[in-house]
Amino acid sequence: MKNRQICALDVGTGTIRAATAEVLGKDNIKIIKKGTAPSAGMKGGAVVDMDDLAMAVRKALDQAEVSPGPKIKEVYASMIGGRLRTTERYGVVMVKNDASGVTDSDVDRVLQKAREEPIPSDEEVIHLTPSEFAVDGVGGVRQPAGMAGQRLDVKAILLLAKKAPAENLLRSIDGSVVKVKALGVQPFMAAEAVLDGVEKKDGVILIDMGAGTTDVAVFGGGSLRQASMIRMGGNHLTRDISVGLRIPWPQAEEIKVKDGTVSRLDASKKTDSIYLSALGGKENRKISHTTVAEILEARVQEISSEVKQQLGEVDFNDYFPRKFVLTGGGSYLSGIKEYLERELRLPGRIGLPKMPGGLPAELVKPENAVLVGLMCFGQKHFLNEVSKENQREEMKLVDRNILSRIKTIWQDFLR
Ligand SMILES: Nc1ncnc2c1ncn2[C@@H]1O[C@H](COP(=O)(O)OP(=O)(O)OP(=O)(O)O)[C@@H](O)[C@H]1O
Ligand SMILES: [Mg+2]
Repeated sequence: MKNRQICALDVGTGTIRAATAEVLGKDNIKIIKKGTAPSAGMKGGAVVDMDDLAMAVRKALDQAEVSPGPKIKEVYASMIGGRLRTTERYGVVMVKNDASGVTDSDVDRVLQKAREEPIPSDEEVIHLTPSEFAVDGVGGVRQPAGMAGQRLDVKAILLLAKKAPAENLLRSIDGSVVKVKALGVQPFMAAEAVLDGVEKKDGVILIDMGAGTTDVAVFGGGSLRQASMIRMGGNHLTRDISVGLRIPWPQAEEIKVKDGTVSRLDASKKTDSIYLSALGGKENRKISHTTVAEILEARVQEISSEVKQQLGEVDFNDYFPRKFVLTGGGSYLSGIKEYLERELRLPGRIGLPKMPGGLPAELVKPENAVLVGLMCFGQKHFLNEVSKENQREEMKLVDRNILSRIKTIWQDFLR
């Protein structure tokens, strides 16, 4: 019998998270064990020390390993860094057979045309979303297959990522630590775990605020419309407190988590003081909650203006986001959702991950969004393979070429 165990690995800037699960069916997956380790060898979403990263990943995997039980041989890993960007592409083909109208093969060909346009050599196409088709010049078509017509046009959104960060992640761990079965792009993974179908259809902005980066993705009409990454996250808030108040990092982190708020109003209502431990033989100092709130607000404002700037580049022609969903560890910060609601002028909610079949309570936390998304992705991919195996079809082997591996898997999964 086939080993039904899969493993997800989220390589975060702050924390490496791994989890093993047993796939029991389409809506049935049992999470068995979770492992975490402080991240190492990464900065701003990129690898800076391959050995340190490999060691940190090993630690997280060791914890997630079931003993006694099968060893973790392969993982579905998050694609780090990636500096994602989206761009619009067009394709046009003549329909092959007038009598049968547009067929699936015409749709494939027109998408291929859109994909073929050249892109910079340091980038790779990760995903392609058709945003609109036109049949004989009549636009706004979502499902052209089966329609009568001679000419098929497509407007597509191409998601591009820099090659180097993903390659460096693979060079650090693939083969030496564990085999990377496939890489999942973080905003897709988080979206898989925290958004529902109606939100993706109606229009939603997904904001994943992690330790070193904040990923922003816009979904509308059921598909991805835009994705980008901001090189600022929760760690920048900690650093601002540490530098601003001249205190060590751990104390700054503690203050942020325990007393931090982005709401100056809430802070002004707290009349007690925050005590800072003495440095260099000086006396203990105390500061007000408002001072901390001011420091945090300045950085959150900077992140929110970047988010707005990224959104300014989106073509909201046929849909408009109705809300935002905030996830990642940064979403714990008191007052941040309300701050973004005012800035983006949209209602927001905190995105907690969920899975068909349920999740253990310890995983229902915003910082696990990408990990859970990878698990959902892995489960679908696994079942796909199993059914193929059952049908005695030739199993599609994962390409050895690093980046085509990302593409291959993604195309299978998302189409
Ligand atoms: N209670 C809290 N209040 C405020 N911030 C918090 C809280 N708990 C965690 N954080 C912050 O969340 C961040 C970590 O989030 P997360 O674990 O999602 O990041 P990551 O996945 O490791 O990093 P990245 O996604 O950037 O690669 C840290 O900056 C941490 O300080
Ligand atoms: Mg993360």
